[in-house]
Amino acid sequence: MVKTQFSSRLGFVLTAAGSAVGLGNIWGFPTQAAQHGGGAFLLLYLVLVFALAYPALVAEMAIGRRGHQEPIADLGSLAGLTGKLVGVLGLLAVSAILSFYLIVAGWLVGYMGDALLKLLGVDWPWLTEFGLGRNLALGGLFGLLTWWVVQRGLQEGIETWSRRLMPALLLVLIALAGYVLTLPGGSEGLALYLTPNPAKLLEPSLWLAATGQAFFSLSIGVCVMMVYASYLDQDASLPKLGLQVTLIDSGIAFLAGLLVIPAMYVAKAQGLAILDAKGELISSDTLVFDLFPRLFDNLGSAGLVLSLGFFLLLTLAALTSTLSMLEVPTASLVARTGASRRQASGMVLALVLVAMALICWQFQWLFGLVVKVVTQYAQPLLGLVFCLFAGWLWRRDSLLKTLAAKDETFAKSWFWRLWPGYVKLVCPLLILLVMVQSILQ
Ligand code: PFF
Repeated sequence: MVKTQFSSRLGFVLTAAGSAVGLGNIWGFPTQAAQHGGGAFLLLYLVLVFALAYPALVAEMAIGRRGHQEPIADLGSLAGLTGKLVGVLGLLAVSAILSFYLIVAGWLVGYMGDALLKLLGVDWPWLTEFGLGRNLALGGLFGLLTWWVVQRGLQEGIETWSRRLMPALLLVLIALAGYVLTLPGGSEGLALYLTPNPAKLLEPSLWLAATGQAFFSLSIGVCVMMVYASYLDQDASLPKLGLQVTLIDSGIAFLAGLLVIPAMYVAKAQGLAILDAKGELISSDTLVFDLFPRLFDNLGSAGLVLSLGFFLLLTLAALTSTLSMLEVPTASLVARTGASRRQASGMVLALVLVAMALICWQFQWLFGLVVKVVTQYAQPLLGLVFCLFAGWLWRRDSLLKTLAAKDETFAKSWFWRLWPGYVKLVCPLLILLVMVQSILQ
């Protein structure tokens, strides 16, 4: 069977960036930055993205290109039974992420629908009220939308939609940030975001949060980037394309900070409370779904348009990410059982929806637990294992050849000299350090 391929390298970059850019960038990053001292978090985050997450991303991509099958076989061919087991864990982790991500994506659809209906003069509070029925219905709807795109295939479905949605997302983001910065209070937020508070940089919790955020944001450790890299032509340079994806991902996170943090201060100027009892900025869970709708309400009909734009932005970002999450187990199932894409993606979605229903039902304790276990522990640890596999089980020259066989300048670059040793020792040690520190806390 001919292996599926992206239609072009740009197609790869936009699709992989589509996976990377998601709620993690537009919701997670700005709110974490707001809580952890604005500029300090931004600075540390950028350092960790390039020093830790990017090298791990390249290792994961290299494993995908080398195996050129699906994650379980790719990892198995490199590390035997252990590798296969790691592949299975990666698939379970990505399915778990999808099951909680769909719930949040459903809320976004609800808020977007609410703004749209209100613009038309209709009020339907069900859309924005927390409840089992709404969570199940809208999460399920988003799952079906994801499935509809994925079953169409790589080029027709995921690539086409990522190519369309990513530029749209960028436009909406720039327009919204530009508008919010002109409102009273906007520049106060901007100053907080761009001024690092050096005292914050020494807080251990800042490091853990920034590492988890970096791995989640780049979709590392759950075989997404492995599968996407296997759909690339063999001559494409993985470090170069991986860098482009990383730059887009952190660029969008940076831009989202320019929107969300100033918007919090606009809310403050409107008299809304943005500080909690301890005098810190309010927590991330309440920020988007509590503060923002109230801010938009205060701004009258301009607020409704702003609200529609904001939740549309989040929905677009979420969709290109859920596509990648459903693609990975689907690709495995197709390759291992010979099922059609349509059947395989339908089966995976059905299982994910069952998990989603369970989380909705036991929301109070299960949601936070799944998010924490998967994003703070599973993703960095799986990323660590990928680095170890690439660094220790592979001969240095063949590893480098896998990265960029045809790129002659690459063989003279600093990356070529440093990266193999870096993923072998430095990356795993750094990840471990952050993990251990978090367990000790
Ligand atoms: N990177 C996505 C975000 O920042 O929202 C989340 C994500 C997508 C994580 C795909 C994992 C994944 F496989």
